[in-house]
Amino acid sequence: MEKILFKPAKIEDPDVIEKALNRVEAVMLNVVNSDVDPLTDASKHILLAGGKRVRPRLIMLAYAALGGANFKGLAPVAAALELVHTASVVHDDINDHGVMRRGRPSVNKLWGRTFALLTGDFLFTKVYELMAPYGDLNIIFAEATVALVEGETLQASAVKESNFTREVYMDIIARKTASLFKGGAELAATYAQASTEEVEAMGRYGYNVGLAFQIIDDILDIVGDEKQLGKTAGIDLEQGKGFVSANGQKENGHGASSENGDMMENIKAKLLDNIDEARMQAQSLVMMAIEELNILPESSEKEQLIELAHSVVDRTV
Ligand code: IPE
Ligand code: IPE
Ligand code: MG
Ligand code: MG
Repeated sequence: MEKILFKPAKIEDPDVIEKALNRVEAVMLNVVNSDVDPLTDASKHILLAGGKRVRPRLIMLAYAALGGANFKGLAPVAAALELVHTASVVHDDINDHGVMRRGRPSVNKLWGRTFALLTGDFLFTKVYELMAPYGDLNIIFAEATVALVEGETLQASAVKESNFTREVYMDIIARKTASLFKGGAELAATYAQASTEEVEAMGRYGYNVGLAFQIIDDILDIVGDEKQLGKTAGIDLEQGKGFVSANGQKENGHGASSENGDMMENIKAKLLDNIDEARMQAQSLVMMAIEELNILPESSEKEQLIELAHSVVDRTV
């Protein structure tokens, strides 16, 4: 008869999330190797520039908070989602004429539009490779990535037609940004074999964090420090995009746009009230997101998910 007298205490590895994130980095860097040099070079240029990696962190934390332990298994999924995000910013800089990204010259600035377009395509197509073994997770993945492209397209249409109402703005940011956060959280929860209720709650957490994230991004585009942000700022206002344009539309009947710096300053000054309002909206979205975490048992990862949500509105970069 075998008797277990001492059950070894579960050893919590405090670095488990950081290790998982390092693995995600390794997967991304490995998968972009190609014998077609410009694709590898431009991909590594943008990947090695860093970035906040907020989406993979959210994925790993949500997974751990739901009791998941196979971080190695989840790493390619988190890497795939971060590659979609990375592809989207490479393409976004072509569309927005961004010349700085993650503290470096953008891919379009260094390689030109054609190679930037192809690098984005390359990063998108690498997702097929990474996600191939994951069966039904691809359904969640597809929904999130289709929404991203729809959001960017709705934005381009809204700019073209000068139809930037608050409702249109919310629809755009829900699709172009919140969808990836929602999808990431749902992927993590599903991989952790969580209940439907838990998957949905985590999805709502991701969605609300994502909405708040884009609202703050739009505010930082106006009031943030370009050097600190590491990306070309002020372009949303020039191009009639972003939160403030949505409000400008409401007040003035047309999207904010300008050709000279003075006018930009005037618009910015006028819109400071709206910025406060937007910040409050982001704050309340974060509180709604945190509310969803009540479904989780207490853990250090749950605390970190709460922190992550707060950091979205508190950030300066
Ligand atoms: C930038 O996203 C694009 C938006 C959705 C606002 P991030 O702010 O997460 O960009 P990186 O990855 O940190 O550079
Ligand atoms: C971010 O929109 C959405 C995507 C890149 C899909 P932004 O235009 O606000 O992104 P940044 O500010 O250039 O990073
Ligand atoms: Mg942009
Ligand atoms: Mg922006």
